[in-house]
Amino acid sequence: MTYLQSYIGFSAPSLSVTACRRAGLPIWRNPDNYRIIGDTNNRRLVVLDVEGRIKHGNAPAYRGFLISPETPLGHPCQPEPIFIKFPHGPEIGLYEWLEKEKETLTTLIDIPRVPRFLAAGQADIIEYQRFGQDWHDWLKNGNQPPYPYKIPFIVISSVNGTAMNAFSDQTLKFVPSRQRLGWLTGTVLAGAAELLARVHDHGIIHRDLKPAHILYDQEEQIVGLIDFGSSTRIADRPINGHFGTLAFFPPEYVFEPPEKEDPRIDAYSIGSTAFTLASGGGHINYGERLPVDTVYNFVENIWAYRSAGVAELIKESNLPAELKETSFARYIFQLMHPDINQRPINMREIADNFRRIGTELG
Ligand SMILES: Nc1ncnc2c1ncn2[C@@H]1O[C@H](COP(=O)(O)OP(=O)(O)OP(=O)(O)O)[C@@H](O)[C@H]1O
Ligand SMILES: [Mg+2]
Repeated sequence: MTYLQSYIGFSAPSLSVTACRRAGLPIWRNPDNYRIIGDTNNRRLVVLDVEGRIKHGNAPAYRGFLISPETPLGHPCQPEPIFIKFPHGPEIGLYEWLEKEKETLTTLIDIPRVPRFLAAGQADIIEYQRFGQDWHDWLKNGNQPPYPYKIPFIVISSVNGTAMNAFSDQTLKFVPSRQRLGWLTGTVLAGAAELLARVHDHGIIHRDLKPAHILYDQEEQIVGLIDFGSSTRIADRPINGHFGTLAFFPPEYVFEPPEKEDPRIDAYSIGSTAFTLASGGGHINYGERLPVDTVYNFVENIWAYRSAGVAELIKESNLPAELKETSFARYIFQLMHPDINQRPINMREIADNFRRIGTELG
């Protein structure tokens, strides 16, 4: 057995079939998939689902449950669905981001439909092969994990709903009907802006808003907001080199980083999110759109339009033609103006405007 292989697998104890039954966990699954990795301060156990690795994320994140081990047999409790997040990679700086996310979520505790911070701990549950590229590369480069190797994690509540990128992928290349655009604007975007306004009230900027981080709850017809892993405090010194997702991130961070973190980052992101949702998955761009073969060119091209007015931006953009004459277009290009000083700053007003435009659209 090589050193690497000896680390594969989760060393945390698994649950017995009886314990699964007591906890109300589905027992048709292999109980070995359920590993106890910690507990909360009200004595619930943190159970990680080994098969529940979130596929698309960069950082290791797993689905899991909080269970109450003291529930009498025959009275199965409802296990609470949770997400367990680990650092992106082994560098200590990345551990600090996780700590920051914990602090952020603790600050936001009174806001509904954002993840609640539930617990934190350390686990020696490394399955490097699947744990993430950064971890895998680190080992491949000859680093040896200390023994026992503890990796910090945070446990957060699950927010109900389907990520909005699923909605835009479904309609890929289709411009939504007027009614659907009304719903996107008046319910989804207005709802997200309303939550962001509450986040800003607490002095926090989300910094990574995009369709994948807005969840729509079909039953309640309301949105939630997730992933505060890139969030910072308003007026902090900006972080270099840690961007959100480029297509949704304002260009000044690449070319003229502001001196202080500014809530207008989120205005840009919600504007470009609106663009993507309304254009069936597209990303904003301007002009010839030829030099977009690299990430840098993509942002540089947007930055080149910072002196343009809203009308010119719309004209030069790849927004579907049917939308160019709408008040929806005029508003979202104001939000994602390449010049930060042209963007509105008050997220509550942004929510009100989305609601109004949504109502007009029907
Ligand atoms: N609290 C939550 N409620 C519901 N879904 C969640 C929650 N936390 C994470 N997820 C799901 O797991 C995915 C990854 O989580 P998250 O975005 O927080 O981590 P990440 O490492 O930043 O991922 P990425 O790099 O893809 O943005 C989310 O896109 C979402 O599908
Ligand atoms: Mg994410």
